[in-house]
Amino acid sequence: MKTILDAKNVYKVFGNSNDGETTILKGVDLQIKDGEFVAIMGHSGSGKSTLLYNISGMDRLTSGNVLYDGNDISSLSDKQISEVRLHNMGFIFQHSHLLKILSIKENIMLPALKAKKKSRDEILNDTEELMQKVGIESISEHDITKVSGGQLQRAAICRALINNPNIIFGDEPTGALNSRASREVMDILNEINHNGTTLLIVTHDSKIAARAERVIYLSDGNIEDEYKLGKYDGKQESLIKREDEMSKWLKARGF
Ligand SMILES: Nc1ncnc2c1ncn2[C@@H]1O[C@H](COP(=O)(O)OP(=O)(O)O)[C@@H](O)[C@H]1O
Ligand SMILES: [Mg+2]
Repeated sequence: MKTILDAKNVYKVFGNSNDGETTILKGVDLQIKDGEFVAIMGHSGSGKSTLLYNISGMDRLTSGNVLYDGNDISSLSDKQISEVRLHNMGFIFQHSHLLKILSIKENIMLPALKAKKKSRDEILNDTEELMQKVGIESISEHDITKVSGGQLQRAAICRALINNPNIIFGDEPTGALNSRASREVMDILNEINHNGTTLLIVTHDSKIAARAERVIYLSDGNIEDEYKLGKYDGKQESLIKREDEMSKWLKARGF
């Protein structure tokens, strides 16, 4: 399988020499294969979000390189990077970041209207299909303040998928949900991955990480270790087994 994302010796320093510098990422190497589902775990403050933002082109690394599909995106201009992101990557955060002035449907359509790859009718069609897939077609015209957190995250998934990305980045995508909504959202993400979309998800929840095929453990800005679980078959009983197995590994790392 080909490597879709290749991060080499990534450093991130915040601050400046006058007010003091803090090195948050300390030479991270990370390869993600096309179609893989990788979870990033680690203590709060270990640099998980920073790593995600820096290897997805949302933020600028201080040094090192990130190749997306063989192309060095760390050397591109901001405008070029946003184009790469718009056409190839999807993002899901802890909170949905949908626009309050638009309906659910309009929010989902927005990245596709921006990308200008499909006609408005095609976009509308794809949006409706996606909403149906994740079970939010009934709230299509709703105001985003009138729906549940789980529905908002499903809408965020649709928005992330509307441009058919190769990879979806998630920063604690279920962090604000109750356990049931969280399971439902993760079932959808597992299915998306099963259908070929690469997933890179930051989480502090071992129940979520147990759904990934590989778990990276970040400690003080370095990848300390990784654990290979293999693909999740979608069965509840294997999830419990996987989490059990991985918990021992996490405990040994002081998590
Ligand atoms: N924009 C920023 N400026 C300065 N320090 C930051 C910034 N973003 C994150 N940090 C620091 O980097 C460290 C790692 O943060 P973060 O990547 O959010 O950790 P995690 O997601 O693992 O909890 C923290 O100490 C945080 O305070
Ligand atoms: Mg974080």
